[in-house]
Amino acid sequence: MTDLIFVLNGPNLNLLGTREPEIYGHDTLDDIAAMLDDQAREAGAEIDFRQSNHEGHLIDWLHEAQAEGAKAVLLNAAGYTHTSIALLDAIKAIKVPVYEVHLSDPHTREEFRHLSYVGMGAKAVFAGHGAKSYQLALDAALQV
Ligand code: DQA
Repeated sequence: MTDLIFVLNGPNLNLLGTREPEIYGHDTLDDIAAMLDDQAREAGAEIDFRQSNHEGHLIDWLHEAQAEGAKAVLLNAAGYTHTSIALLDAIKAIKVPVYEVHLSDPHTREEFRHLSYVGMGAKAVFAGHGAKSYQLALDAALQV
């Protein structure tokens, strides 16, 4: 069976490309989706790539990843990373491993970004490499 990887993106990531490019780079979310699609296909896997500005959608999609038998979830929860106990609970409620992803490195930024609820449930964290953070996380997820 083809490995299925969910790639879930949180609030404001739909604006990538024009959103604070000095921090997040010039790649759009569509560029990242296309890159990951190629990478997954080369490995004989498939990605389901989604973005929402709403916390509950991300929670529903984590549940769906489990129901669909996904091998892993890459999650860039964006601002919800630092605030959402409900997302942490959802990560803990499913058996599918979740890889935390960030374009920037939150630990080198404002102090309020140093706390990650997502990280408390994630299998690993890939941050600070721009769009490449997603590729590194996908590599790791596919190798398990
Ligand atoms: C981010 C880092 C978060 O702190 C921020 O709220 C984001 C993007 C990143 O990919 O670098 O929206 O998750």
